[in-house]
Amino acid sequence: MAFVSIRDLKVAFDGVQVLHGIDLDIDRGEAVGLVGESGCGKSVTWLAALGLLPGKARVSGSVRVEGQELIGAPARMVERVRGARIAMIFQDPSSSLNPVQRVGRQIAESLALHRGLRGAAARAETVRLLDMVGIPSAATRVDLYPHEFSGGQCQRIMIAMALAGQPDLLIADEPTTALDATIQAQILDLLARLRAETGMAMVFISHDLGAVSAVCDRAAVMYAGRMVEAGGIERLFAAPRHPYTRGLFDAIPELDAGRGRLNPIQGVVPDPKKLPMGCAFFPRCTRASELCRIERPDLKPQPQGGHLACFRPLGEDTRTWARAEELA
Ligand SMILES: Nc1ncnc2c1ncn2[C@@H]1O[C@H](COP(=O)(O)OP(=O)(O)OP(=O)(O)O)[C@@H](O)[C@H]1O
Ligand SMILES: [Mg+2]
Repeated sequence: MAFVSIRDLKVAFDGVQVLHGIDLDIDRGEAVGLVGESGCGKSVTWLAALGLLPGKARVSGSVRVEGQELIGAPARMVERVRGARIAMIFQDPSSSLNPVQRVGRQIAESLALHRGLRGAAARAETVRLLDMVGIPSAATRVDLYPHEFSGGQCQRIMIAMALAGQPDLLIADEPTTALDATIQAQILDLLARLRAETGMAMVFISHDLGAVSAVCDRAAVMYAGRMVEAGGIERLFAAPRHPYTRGLFDAIPELDAGRGRLNPIQGVVPDPKKLPMGCAFFPRCTRASELCRIERPDLKPQPQGGHLACFRPLGEDTRTWARAEELA
């Protein structure tokens, strides 16, 4: 049994569906990347799974943590799982660090809540955590306020806070987006090291495929509230099959440096209120056919491993398409 098992997770805001049925398993100890352009539903997937969306959100489907259902469960039970078993580093640092409270106190609160540590024991553990995430002179800086640390250090403090409950799974939502390249690389190293040391699983949410490949074993690509391709990181990198995945790779600056300029995907992610009838990627896809316009491909397991939702994948010849279109 997977540690976390998500099935047919759907989310709507004010009658507009933004998540259209996500299936995802996370095993103990593994690192899974969740990628896709802005607005594809990466954050909403995990905010919904952990009961963190505002009350107006309509959430359905199933999220089981070691068999225990979270969707529709009492808030107290969901809270216990969150923090103790699963911790989330939020995309927006200001939403997790309280600016008017000393960082040490914020971490100590989490230690008290999830591990029952108080007083000197909590203090010592707080310093140890800050030390572990690479805050210099942690023992003397533990009583400072968030604004007395740099952006990269605040990111590290958030990681320390998330680790305070010794989670089995860490959800890191764009943990490096706001940082410069050097600090970003340090945070990625830190996450990889912490995972090796603690054996925790990780979900790494990012639109940066380079960062995902550095820390993850496998990845899932999301587009317009659906998963369109998933699989082992090496296969995804070596031979992406969905034209959207391929487009994301072509837009990585590092890989493109030799060719001089970036190659972004034309067009924009569709408004969830006005999704195309067939494949949501159809209007931006250079390979699309008439079938793609009128019918939506389901996510299916692939003979070469992984999952794919595409009628005209890369690496297949046109005869295969013709057959698929006849069958459809
Ligand atoms: N609280 C909310 N109320 C209404 N709509 C929301 C809310 N939160 C998210 N959405 C919508 O849900 C969709 C998915 O948003 P989500 O935040 O999951 O995107 P994302 O993939 O995390 O993007 P980014 O890379 O920019 O963080 C978007 O269309 C967004 O506008
Ligand atoms: Mg997000």
